[in-house]
Amino acid sequence: MPALFQLGCKSRLPEGLSIVAFARPEMTNDAYRDLMWDSVREFGDLAVRRDEWRMFEQRLSYVSGDLTRLDDFVSLKRDLLDFEEDFRPPNCLFYLSIAPQFFESTIHNLGASGIATEEGGWRRVVIEKPYGRDLDSAQRLNLAVGDVFREDQVYRIDHYLGKETVQNLLVFRFANGIFQPLWSRDHIDSVQITVSESVSVGDRAGYYDQSGVVRDMVQNHLLQLLTMVAMDPPGDLGAESVRGKKAEVLKAIRTVTDGEALENTVLGQYRGYLEENGVAPGSRTPTYAALRLYIDNWRWQGVPFYLRTGKSMAVKATEILIRFRRPAHMLFESTPDSQVSPNILSLCLQPDEGVHLKFDVKVPDKGLMLRSQDMEFHYESAFKDQAIPEAYELLIRDALQGDASLFIRSDHIEEAWRIVDPLLQAWDATSNPDLRIYEPGSWGPKEADRLLADNGHVWQLACGQHGAAD
Ligand code: BG6
Repeated sequence: MPALFQLGCKSRLPEGLSIVAFARPEMTNDAYRDLMWDSVREFGDLAVRRDEWRMFEQRLSYVSGDLTRLDDFVSLKRDLLDFEEDFRPPNCLFYLSIAPQFFESTIHNLGASGIATEEGGWRRVVIEKPYGRDLDSAQRLNLAVGDVFREDQVYRIDHYLGKETVQNLLVFRFANGIFQPLWSRDHIDSVQITVSESVSVGDRAGYYDQSGVVRDMVQNHLLQLLTMVAMDPPGDLGAESVRGKKAEVLKAIRTVTDGEALENTVLGQYRGYLEENGVAPGSRTPTYAALRLYIDNWRWQGVPFYLRTGKSMAVKATEILIRFRRPAHMLFESTPDSQVSPNILSLCLQPDEGVHLKFDVKVPDKGLMLRSQDMEFHYESAFKDQAIPEAYELLIRDALQGDASLFIRSDHIEEAWRIVDPLLQAWDATSNPDLRIYEPGSWGPKEADRLLADNGHVWQLACGQHGAAD
């Protein structure tokens, strides 16, 4: 709703667009508008815009109904006819931000009631995560969706793809000719992707305890970031070109046995998780994951991709760190002072959005003493008057405009589950799993260092923190 409101304030919503909310509680339009105002107000600077809200809220209306009852969809269809007077052709975007157990019945009811039939205007559906719990359930859901919608009508959302800094990965890689020749195993030694969160599961334990960090973050957000770093350059920016290149990366991620999946992963739980409201007694749901993955293709053969994410960690930081190989022939390093540090390129996605490039320089007047220096770019100082928009603004606008390039295709979803399924299965089958307990406010379990130490690497963050497990 804040994203829709922002789009309204920026005059980026189509003329005559109406937003119809559908949920179980009985409520009047006015009560619904007040409820939305209360929640939009939580988003800081939007609160002062009461007058704009008064205009915007005219677009909102509310219909009470049950997602599992076909009759309710039939009457929703009748209600929607009222809006068609103002909005021609009568296009319709369905936005399913609902509990996952209702996806299949809702999609079925959209089809059976005739609401999803394209009569005069288009029909599209946006589907929020979680999209399945594993490969089997995702395949079933894809089939159910495919019974009602064509693939080009389906917009599976991952809000990470709507972040400005995630899109900047494409610009950074493909608008700057200097990086492309370096972007392979010939020059890159390893890649780290960190998505650390300082928040705990808070009041979301009911959902989270059933999902855990692998389903909540790794299968979607982290693997999407990985594809943006590792994909080959697409021929153009069209949805099929970009998504095709990303799918190639997911398909090339090495398939591992259940045992290998566990060996290449460290899972942890923050101390105190079991006391959170809504967590099952003795739950072994992980809130932290660190993984080592390999991409078996010509570009990335042998380059480890380290992924880590967790709740209740030291800071909120999302960063992709590329570590380059050392020079082929070493002229320095004859003394401890002349040690060479690897070049690091760090793409900081949030909260201090920017880019860091580390290189060695000679310390003046100290013989051959070397020091690693950091060249930095920060969005905040470079674009002082331009706030970074909410990811959903862009995604909702793209879905309204029919641009699916930042949404997930059915084969992506299935490939992503193929990658994490062995791990989930091995974890469920292990009666005494190695669940590492870590302190809230730390960098996660110490054991995660092992994944990198095998290759002589350490966890790092360029954006102001060292980021090693402690
Ligand atoms: C959501 C997860 O998809 O992403 C949350 O369900 C997580 O658990 C959130 O906190 C992180 O998003 P962001 O944009 O704050 O990095």
